[in-house]
Amino acid sequence: MKFGRKEAGSLVESAAPMNGTACAAVMNEVMEQGDGLHAALIMDGNGRWANARGLPRLAGHRAGVDSVRRVVEAAPDFGISVLTLYAFSADNWRRPPREVSALMRLLGFYLEQETRRLIAQGVRLEAIGRRDRIPAAVAKQLAEAEQRTADGGRLRLRVAIDYSSRHAMVQAAKHAHRIDGEITEEAIARELGPPVDLLIRTSGEQRLSDFLLWESAYAEIVFTERMWPEFTGDDLAQAVKEFHSRSRRFGGVAAASRRSA
Ligand code: FPP
Repeated sequence: MKFGRKEAGSLVESAAPMNGTACAAVMNEVMEQGDGLHAALIMDGNGRWANARGLPRLAGHRAGVDSVRRVVEAAPDFGISVLTLYAFSADNWRRPPREVSALMRLLGFYLEQETRRLIAQGVRLEAIGRRDRIPAAVAKQLAEAEQRTADGGRLRLRVAIDYSSRHAMVQAAKHAHRIDGEITEEAIARELGPPVDLLIRTSGEQRLSDFLLWESAYAEIVFTERMWPEFTGDDLAQAVKEFHSRSRRFGGVAAASRRSA
């Protein structure tokens, strides 16, 4: 996970729409930088996308799976080594039972269809969130996919299912206390996983919805109007480009300001 950014001579100068050349520029910059980014995605807008087309909400979720495929394929090219996708929040149980079952079936379908492709792409899949409330068949498919993709070294794909960041933090604190007899920031950070560099939310909504709250303490946030079913590799490249145009100071000051202090 990078904690700095290239200050000068950046290939990334504006956040204008990208074409193939601009995409290649992001890829060149990424190759020079080495260390990978942790990008996290709140995939929002499936229902609205479907409604706008007179389709049932499920059609939006199905189209959303295609976006997942596109983004997983594109992510490593843009220097992303960890990608966390918000697939089903702990609060999503409040949706109509038919939609919940359809989403669970879709997750199962994705795991069944995609595991072989993930292995070929060097993707290691991992689920975060609770496993005791999702259908047993999906929990089993997740465990199998995790095991079968365990050697993937190109991208760590974390799928958040029945996930609540507040719940994860409480669990992390309890576990830290059980193991170490005390609760420290380091122990919680270790329990939860890598800090987020870039957090993207689609569909124009601008909130975090209980997603990676601790891990996103210093995340750069990009909100895009794009509905999730329409999100492409180019949109991801655009967000990465925006990320590189920001100055990350982690509460400190930029090098130039430090000299003038
Ligand atoms: C939010 O859109 C989306 C979800 C709650 C589900 C996301 C699931 C997928 C993209 C498919 C399965 C995922 C994987 C990883 C295979 P919304 O329904 O809240 O949209 P709305 O705000 O327009 O109603």
